Amino acid sequence: MNILILGGGGREHALAWAVMQNPKCDKLIVAPGNAGIAQIAECARLDIEDGGTVVEFAGENAIDLVIIGPEAPLAAGVGDALRDAGFPVFGPSKEAARLEASKAFTKEICDAAQAPTAGYGHFTDAASAKAHVAAQGAPIVVKADGLAAGKGVIIAETVAEAEEAIDDMFGGAFGGAGAEVVIEEFMTGEEASFFLLVDGEDVLPIGTAQDHKRVGEGDTGPNTGGMGAYSPAPVLSDEIAQKALDEIIRPTMSEMVKRGTPYSGVLYAGLMIENGQPRLVEYNVRFGDPECQVLMMRLGAQALDLIHACAEGRLAEAQVTWADDHAMTVVIAAKGYPGAYEKGTVIGGLEGLPEDSFHQMFHAGTAQADGKVVASGGRVLNATARGATLAEAAERAYALVDGVDWPEGFCRRDIGWRAL
Ligand code: AMP
Ligand code: GLY
Repeated sequence: MNILILGGGGREHALAWAVMQNPKCDKLIVAPGNAGIAQIAECARLDIEDGGTVVEFAGENAIDLVIIGPEAPLAAGVGDALRDAGFPVFGPSKEAARLEASKAFTKEICDAAQAPTAGYGHFTDAASAKAHVAAQGAPIVVKADGLAAGKGVIIAETVAEAEEAIDDMFGGAFGGAGAEVVIEEFMTGEEASFFLLVDGEDVLPIGTAQDHKRVGEGDTGPNTGGMGAYSPAPVLSDEIAQKALDEIIRPTMSEMVKRGTPYSGVLYAGLMIENGQPRLVEYNVRFGDPECQVLMMRLGAQALDLIHACAEGRLAEAQVTWADDHAMTVVIAAKGYPGAYEKGTVIGGLEGLPEDSFHQMFHAGTAQADGKVVASGGRVLNATARGATLAEAAERAYALVDGVDWPEGFCRRDIGWRAL
């Protein structure tokens, strides 16, 4: 099988690694890829948000399966363009990708499906949004409706903070994403992520994870894209996962089918769990980054079979072979991240690291320059490991971290602290 993966972060390196473990993969191309991906697959430069360009490239390279990593090409309809041209695609249609691209849309689907989620209001002007906040009080959550690179959510501790966020959003702080605003009840509890493959009506759970969004140890400081993750998520017990499936995932996926926009691809459900009851925080229409890294580490080669079955609508006959194992990934970021950071600094020590089914140093933001690996982003490396226990996975992941010689980088030393 010839496979094309779109994207170039740690998520896509992990996907590429898992795909390459499977003998069914004859050729793998990743666009744009990164320095780590280039060591295991061919990397290509193309505009991955332009459907026509991707279709042409897939045709020229006799591609049998396209795996779309990030949300932007999905929201731009690249999946539709490929499907229309007859390519099997892993990733939802533009219409179904609204489950991530529009928070108001997701709330409406939850309402129709009677799925437990935070109470909310949806507003197109600041005055009515503020009136809602005045009536509800704080804490309260203010969200830009559209895609805002993970930055469009403000947890307001006071009414004044909420009003300021409303003014910012309608004032254009998040561009078009903030032209509509969703205001939600603040939920308490513990958060976890549930990953499922979906092809219309069929749903297959493929794992759970928890991540650390704050930059600082003890979960302090500004929000990031994620500083580390581990799988499984202890808070998502079998019983709670089943409840989430029955009360949230299946009813909302049925609602998508009913509306003529069936969902296909990986569904990433962010859940808030309190007193044994899961509620939906949000849907994403792609793998989490870095959650994908721990899921791929645990699934290994079978990930390709599952993804392929999902893309071809054969999930009903697919099965996951579970191992009783744990995985952890530690993000190594450039000093300064999530604020300003330096690019182009040289990363040493990578050649000496162990690389097997228990240890993988996935690259997130790296490039090649003069034969050396250099940092090219904020989140740069993902030290990822698997073990019989989470403690063992953590020990291995931090051993990988300690093998890297990169003075301009940093990581959190406490990934998984809640579970450990
Ligand atoms: P989102 O982009 O919707 O996932 O929001 C980002 C983060 O904000 C989530 O991972 C939660 O930690 C938090 N969050 C979002 N909505 C709520 C809510 N209604 N109540 C409490 N926390 C929330
Ligand atoms: N790690 C969070 C995300 O991918 O959205």
